[in-house]
Amino acid sequence: MSNLSTINIGICGLGTVGQGVWKHLERSRADLESRLGVTLNLARASVRDPKKKRAVRIPAAKLTTDPLVIATDPSIHIVCELIGGTTLAREVTLAALKLGKTVVSANKALLCKHGPELFAAARKHGGHFFFEASVAGGIPIIKSLREGLVANRFKLIYGILNGTCNYILTRMDREGLSYPAILAEAKALGYAEADESLDVEGWDTAHKASILAYLAHGTWVPVEKMLVEGITQLTQADLQFARDNGYAVKLLAVITRDFDTGEVFVRVHPTLVPLTKVLANVNEVYNGISVTGDVVGETVYIGRGAGQDPTASAVISDIVDAIILLNRGNTPLPEPVETRAPLTPLEKIHGSYYLRMDVKDEPGVLAKIASALASHGVSIASVLQRPSDRPAAATLILTTHSSHEKAIRATLAHLRKLSSVLGDPLLLRIADFAG
Ligand code: NAP
Ligand code: HSE
Repeated sequence: MSNLSTINIGICGLGTVGQGVWKHLERSRADLESRLGVTLNLARASVRDPKKKRAVRIPAAKLTTDPLVIATDPSIHIVCELIGGTTLAREVTLAALKLGKTVVSANKALLCKHGPELFAAARKHGGHFFFEASVAGGIPIIKSLREGLVANRFKLIYGILNGTCNYILTRMDREGLSYPAILAEAKALGYAEADESLDVEGWDTAHKASILAYLAHGTWVPVEKMLVEGITQLTQADLQFARDNGYAVKLLAVITRDFDTGEVFVRVHPTLVPLTKVLANVNEVYNGISVTGDVVGETVYIGRGAGQDPTASAVISDIVDAIILLNRGNTPLPEPVETRAPLTPLEKIHGSYYLRMDVKDEPGVLAKIASALASHGVSIASVLQRPSDRPAAATLILTTHSSHEKAIRATLAHLRKLSSVLGDPLLLRIADFAG
């Protein structure tokens, strides 16, 4: 614990989030300084291209192109890693932690890939690692799980954790727009990752789910061990079916725990969520998370999940916690003790499914499809036939009664081999896990 009258803050990465942090720290400086009893000094910032036009004005003397200079500068107390990626960001974070500094990060990919190493470095060298902005933008979900809900064990956590995907799905649904056009908008608005495939293919949601699973259960589930599906195959036909049948399509992360066996399962997939559920009505860039604790019951959190301002709000909350820690020794509750929980075997995963496929529009095709499902023990709940864009074809949409994941995967493989099935069938999950 020290008694610093001036806190020097270094911001590595001055893109969407970094500029937001700079802007809002300047805006709220007087209030924060009087409440914290310190002077806040935005000491340095790093960028890749110093010639790039930025919305915030920063004296040239404060800018560097080398974030390691900031991470290792002995006068800097708090290092914000807002670069992204897992290579340079890891170097910068480790360099600062090894010097016993406090690091604030919004980088979920980094945490998911290198979390244990970063926490170990912080512990070993007396540094600290804060990461509120890494999950669900402006929603204080990390603090809620870590502190507010500490009395609980969590059987089910599910949520919309990617603002870009929710923005795309909402606009596709409401305005009938195509997915690439809306993705371009989400990028322009600063919602998407530098590599947007992380968003639309589900990996960003998986990174965030991994962090939540760790906080809730003390176990790191690598993304390779999750079921991860994105939104790139969704079409208007899927959104329309959902709307007509009382659902909204949302990209959900679902984290379940079986307290009898200790098994954890983490999955990410587009899901038909009944409109009666709060999360079905969480739209645009908003994220929503349902956390069911064994003591508190269900709690639901909603807020903007991406973009400059909500993310800056979370980063600044961490900076403030870091200052309280530095000056008053107020250490946050430590991360959960790391364990290696068993993963739920696929045989135990079941649910109801939605299948959409284009088929040859000729006699006997429906019978072949029904027989393929029946041969894997999958029972059909409903069938709908629609005109297809393909010539001499029809679009079939089927829903199933509760079936096993293994059986539905075998069914998919079977359908792909049928000559009457054209193109790749699409599989979506129906959110019966959410009650
Ligand atoms: P961004 O706009 O791409 O900004 C990245 C910043 O890092 C830029 O200033 C860039 O410099 C700098 N940078 C990148 N590579 C560099 C390199 N090799 N050397 C030096 N500087 C480098 O990204 P962002 O959207 O702000 O995201 C930053 C982090 O926050 C990521 O981990 C992201 O996942 C996370 N996050 C983002 C959001 C969001 O809504 N955007 C929300 C939550 C979390 P230049 O400006 O000169 O190119
Ligand atoms: N690309 C991310 C999203 C940023 O769209 O949710 C927030 O983590």
